[in-house]
Amino acid sequence: RNLRRLIPCRHDIHRLKAPFLAIYETLIPPEEENAKQKQLLTLLEKLVSKEWPEARLHLYGSCANSFRVSKSDIDVCLAIEDPDVNKSEVLLKLADILQSDNLQNVQVNDLAFQDLCNVLTAVHALTRARVPIVKLMDPVTAISCDICINNVLAVVNTKLLWDYAQIDVRLRQLALIVKHWAKSRGVNATYQGTLSSYAYVLMCIHFLQQRRPAILPCLQGMERTYAVTVDNIECAYFDQVEKLSGFGSRNRESIAQLVWTFFNYWAYCHDYANDVISIRTGSILSKRAKDWTRRIGNDRHLICIEDPFEISHDLGRVVDKNSIRVLREEFERAAQIMQFDHDPCVTLFEPYIL
Ligand code: GTP
Ligand code: MG
Repeated sequence: RNLRRLIPCRHDIHRLKAPFLAIYETLIPPEEENAKQKQLLTLLEKLVSKEWPEARLHLYGSCANSFRVSKSDIDVCLAIEDPDVNKSEVLLKLADILQSDNLQNVQVNDLAFQDLCNVLTAVHALTRARVPIVKLMDPVTAISCDICINNVLAVVNTKLLWDYAQIDVRLRQLALIVKHWAKSRGVNATYQGTLSSYAYVLMCIHFLQQRRPAILPCLQGMERTYAVTVDNIECAYFDQVEKLSGFGSRNRESIAQLVWTFFNYWAYCHDYANDVISIRTGSILSKRAKDWTRRIGNDRHLICIEDPFEISHDLGRVVDKNSIRVLREEFERAAQIMQFDHDPCVTLFEPYIL
């Protein structure tokens, strides 16, 4: 722990607040994208309800957790209350329904309908993926829409993230900037051993819970006003977040200071050998207590981020010997830029080119 060093922050950090806020504003998706997303969902609902009248469609992921950046994919969950449902069969059937030749009979009173039909010409069922999905691809915008079956836990963790975002706007600011940085630097790809957007948002929530005074509370440590049981996991927390507005107001740190401290923490202060970050407890847990000290199967636990509900699940499990080095070098690069660069708002997001 004595390796940890917190360098004093550059003295002109206040100069960076306005440019970081300006970047945040440009990252918020334009209203047309949201409207298009709603139209697509309405069309999907019509098509799905014919075949499965009891089923429900839920948006989840960044289009419902408020951490969407422009051009993010759309994540949709088809919830079917049948414990014996055969997901592959349902997905193949769904892909078939969505083929545009089958759309003739659908009445959608909308000029954008033709647009949507174009999206539905590119439909694939990926039944062998880790999470089996049907993928729709808009050939014009290249935005894809992934539909999965009964991934209800993801719908619930989406709500948790959305609720956290209502408490203090600095969470949304920080998370969009961190996601933009991760996408620009090529460290937001789980198939390459780096972290998912979901993992980065958990890192931001944890970080804001740890500020003194705290900017975010620990919702799972408070009175339970919302509770559901999904796949035998009890998901419960305080969700009356409108009562918590102003929670972080005693902390006056600006987004520029927070970006600086976030990267400094992950570059120089986090104890990778021993610590697990946990938004569920609002604290740091030890790897030893979770038995995450050694490699089991493919889970190496080189950076440990506890899922708030599936607590045996480490979002860092995808990170390997090589990608942990890449990640830590990127955190260090970002921390150095935040400390010394004249124009960090540009340099931080310079694309990584092989
Ligand atoms: P972008 O698509 O990059 O904008 O972000 P996103 O928040 O949509 O992330 P992503 O598409 O990677 O994941 C979609 C959603 O699936 C997340 O928001 C979570 O709700 C859920 N999710 C992703 N990975 C995991 C995981 O490992 N465990 C669990 N329980 N949920 C996950
Ligand atoms: Mg997504």
